[in-house]
Amino acid sequence: MKIKSICCIGAGYVGGPTMSVIAQKNPQLKVTVVDINADRIAAWNCKDLAQLPIFEPGLDKVVGEARGQNLFFSTEVDKAIDEAEMIFISVNTPTKTYGAGKGMAADLQYVELCARQIAKVSKSDKIVVEKSTLPVKTAEAIKDILDNTGNGIHFEILSNPEFLAEGTAIQDLEAPDRVLIGGEPTETGQEAIEVLKNIYATWVPESQIITTNLWSSELSKLTANAFLAQRVSSINALTELCEKTGANITEVANAIGTDSRIGSKFLNASVGFGGSCFQKDILNLVYICKSLGLNQAADYWEQVVIMNNHQRTRFANQIVKALYGTVADKKIVFFGWAFKKNTNDTRESAAIYIADKLIEEHAQIQVYDPKVTALQMQSDLNYLNSRSEPENAKYLTTHSDPYDAVAGAHALAIITEWDEFKTYDWRKIYDNMSKPAFIFDGRNLLNRSALESIGFLYRGIGQ
Ligand code: NAD
Ligand code: UGA
Repeated sequence: MKIKSICCIGAGYVGGPTMSVIAQKNPQLKVTVVDINADRIAAWNCKDLAQLPIFEPGLDKVVGEARGQNLFFSTEVDKAIDEAEMIFISVNTPTKTYGAGKGMAADLQYVELCARQIAKVSKSDKIVVEKSTLPVKTAEAIKDILDNTGNGIHFEILSNPEFLAEGTAIQDLEAPDRVLIGGEPTETGQEAIEVLKNIYATWVPESQIITTNLWSSELSKLTANAFLAQRVSSINALTELCEKTGANITEVANAIGTDSRIGSKFLNASVGFGGSCFQKDILNLVYICKSLGLNQAADYWEQVVIMNNHQRTRFANQIVKALYGTVADKKIVFFGWAFKKNTNDTRESAAIYIADKLIEEHAQIQVYDPKVTALQMQSDLNYLNSRSEPENAKYLTTHSDPYDAVAGAHALAIITEWDEFKTYDWRKIYDNMSKPAFIFDGRNLLNRSALESIGFLYRGIGQ
């Protein structure tokens, strides 16, 4: 069975790119992406494709091809729900900041609101697809709401978690390792799975479309992120040991990663993982384990986050220690603020926490990032609530030119692995800095010996 019209609630980092690719690959399918954030929708509809609300390589081309043909962005949520045969829920599911489970559980209020709205508006049978990352068993709650507050029509729930990574979203969507669809074992459940499968099968080989029950699908998403984050924390846990012993983390990562059972990906030592999902999803997993009385499993996974927090603090402390124990009134430049390269997303970026710690020591932070705005950096820092907004503005300033940014700086910290940093004229940067000039390479991105030959005091992470 094929359907003609789908909609997606939530035009964020997942909803926007995912629906754009689905629309491009299914020209006969009408795809409407809705959001309550009118500014975001206006940006998705902007004629100038450089103004799309999220920066993602290749996204402009896909949107340019499909928008206005079979891809639409709108704030008319009710209309889109009413028209669609299949509705994706792709709203945010952040960590709860209040009440029971504060700081750990997923805040499901936005998901619940979507379910209630779908129940209220729908006049014909619908397939509701969980695209957001959700705690295992959420489909049960969604089904309860739909079945008990709806208009007596039939709702089928599917879980179809998204595995794209920011910065490579289009690539990941166009050639996914797998697509995962979970549904109920009933006849209507299996039919719904087939409908969604047909949409993906227009470009994803069927052998890569995995179908499971609802709970396996929900849990697989949370645990895939936990496994990935665990790799980063595992390699970061070795950086301190390398620094103490003279082993080199890049050499160690290469040596262990060539074992095909271990694999080479996701073994880059860093200032710590950031992004909107790893921390929240692991904490959510920890909370679920704790709620079920599985305390050892909870402690095991929580350690991944504890290690990550330690790595960020350790990096900030290293800077203070190397700069002779004080950074008060010293100018420290950050190259990069985004949580990884090729995105303008800064959620949970290590930069925010490292800047906060250095500002506590009264350092003057100046940041250059190719894609993140000054406003975003200030609001990230203000969100931590460590000090007043005017104080943050005094301690953190932004530059649009990397060479100007380093003028008179005592130290430079590489926070994000943007490719352009590798192409800089590092002699010019050295000349502009105060001496001795330190580089703290939080991504082991640069050529150590080349920098040392210029005169820099190079500090790699785990080197
Ligand atoms: P996001 O914050 O960028 O986007 C969510 C959007 O939903 C926002 O624009 C918000 O305004 C909108 N929204 C919230 N409630 C709404 C409502 N009731 N009606 C209409 N719109 C509403 O979030 P995101 O990064 O796209 O993540 C969405 C989900 O996907 C999360 O569960 C996340 O864990 C998961 N996920 C994210 C990524 C990623 O790389 N960002 C990857 C895989 C999965
Ligand atoms: C991650 C997963 O990779 C996606 O599969 C998943 O869909 C997504 O979370 C999600 O659910 O939101 P994302 O957070 O966008 O994607 O980016 P990653 O590439 O996973 O990087 C996360 C963080 O880990 C970044 O700060 C990155 O710099 C860091 N990292 C990654 C390292 O420090 N070292 C590595 O070797 C790899």
